[in-house]
Amino acid sequence: MGESNQTIQWFPGHMAKTKRKIKEILPLIDAVAEVVDARIPVSSRNPDLAELIGSKPLIILLNKCDMADSSVTDGWIAYYRKKGITAIPIDCKSGKGLSKFKDTVKTALADRLEYYKEKGMAGKPLRVMVVGIPNVGKSSFINRIAKGNKAKVENRPGVTRGNQWFTIDKQLELLDTPGVLWPKFEDERVGERLAFTGAVKDRILDIELLAMRLLEILSEDYADLLTARYGQLDFSLDSYDLLCAIGKKRGMVIRGGETDTERAANMLLEEYRNCKIGNITLERADNNA
Ligand code: G4P
Repeated sequence: MGESNQTIQWFPGHMAKTKRKIKEILPLIDAVAEVVDARIPVSSRNPDLAELIGSKPLIILLNKCDMADSSVTDGWIAYYRKKGITAIPIDCKSGKGLSKFKDTVKTALADRLEYYKEKGMAGKPLRVMVVGIPNVGKSSFINRIAKGNKAKVENRPGVTRGNQWFTIDKQLELLDTPGVLWPKFEDERVGERLAFTGAVKDRILDIELLAMRLLEILSEDYADLLTARYGQLDFSLDSYDLLCAIGKKRGMVIRGGETDTERAANMLLEEYRNCKIGNITLERADNNA
């Protein structure tokens, strides 16, 4: 994967620095909230997070749920519940689901609140570090939930070192990740899925190949949506011929009656990204169990 290879060259220094900063800040926080893209809840996660945060409680924010398949999102919530991890769907475009965030944190960290009370620190706010790989909507989340409420620079550890703290209410403070997190870029499928959603630029990827790979997944799980969008299709065709058939239906024909597959590929990816084909999730919890 072109972009993946590029990121490998770009990341090592950043990765080491981010790891170090997260380790440093860990003793100051009570939990981690990981923002993931609900359309690709596996590929949009940081592969090293579990090891990085150790035993800190984790809350998963399934963002962009407005574009995901809600039944699959429900499957992921149940999947994480079984693992003792709280996951909630959110949509930072409209703000849907965000009102549940505070209560979710307080419920997930009830033990911690109790512990603070026992130690005579009843007013101590819970501190949650928000993490996420680029483009999952981490900034959108922080902007919406914190409404620009940056914490005052105080003389206490972790606040003055250029870290971005936000006051949500008297009981809750958020910290933006001190650094940039990375996806599992050595896995080709991950790079591909990030490219489908537009999280990774497809400029340097083979656009037709990308569209064919997307069609393979969509034919398997969302054939009905493809048919509704592009008309009757023969799903026994291979993905290249399927792409040609879709392009032809849209009149993307060049000399000799052949399909302009590049145009068709761009159109398919564009329509997938803009949710024109429907609400689609490319990774299912039942395949991950
Ligand atoms: P990041 O900090 O994790 O890198 O992500 P950021 O908030 O910048 O969001 C990346 C893109 O995803 C933005 O779109 C943002 O608007 C969009 N986005 C974030 N959350 C949601 C969501 O819940 N639903 C939908 N549909 N989109 C979401 P963009 O095209 O890069 O910018 P723009 O459209 O905001 O101009």
